[in-house]
Amino acid sequence: MTTRYSPTAWSTLPRGWDNNADGWPEHRRDALHEIVLLDNKVESIFETACCTGHYIKRLREIGYPGTYLGIDITPEFVIEARKLHPNEVFEICDIRDLPLFWRSPRPLFDLTLVTGILQHLSPEDLPDALSEVALVTEKYLLLSYTQAEETKITFDGKFFQNYYSEEYMRGLVPEDFEVETYRNVGRFATVLLKRKK
Ligand SMILES: C[S@@+](CC[C@H](N)C(=O)[O-])C[C@H]1O[C@@H](n2cnc3c(N)ncnc32)[C@H](O)[C@@H]1O
Repeated sequence: MTTRYSPTAWSTLPRGWDNNADGWPEHRRDALHEIVLLDNKVESIFETACCTGHYIKRLREIGYPGTYLGIDITPEFVIEARKLHPNEVFEICDIRDLPLFWRSPRPLFDLTLVTGILQHLSPEDLPDALSEVALVTEKYLLLSYTQAEETKITFDGKFFQNYYSEEYMRGLVPEDFEVETYRNVGRFATVLLKRKK
């Protein structure tokens, strides 16, 4: 089974799936809500799977003044994000290639956003991706993904569309982090992890 899909695969999806659509579904509101609760404890944000930049748009609208770096595997989304938000920094990068992407030493961010991407990684890539984002996160890691009672991995030759149980994901929490809030809403879980003191 191949676990590396084409970086242009996402752009072949119908509109709406691509998240270029201006929709603001419940799980995004939940994630934003968690970030807002962090108040002014966050001065730098790293976003994996930034798509066309909808989170940073909302965060600026509600007054987030800090620095931001967004990465996404899909070149079209990054190009669009740069057009829509010329004052932000967006780079094309696969979350699985982050160790190559950083110029040493690794940077550090107060908050890393990992929303809507974990369900699209293979079970082999998932722990490494989480460990890598943990390494660049000084305070908070915000995860949001599709969840179900039982973990279910599906791959159609192009995409993983997985569901993770709470138990499965709790087992993958990086060791220096602990669960601050765990929210299940419908088929999404939004989990805020905090670095242990
Ligand atoms: C379901 S959308 C989620 C967008 C946004 N993070 C959100 O929560 O609304 C999935 C995004 O993940 C990106 N993506 C998928 N696999 C990726 C990978 N391996 N590395 C980086 N980005 C990836 C896609 O290009 C797409 O923008």
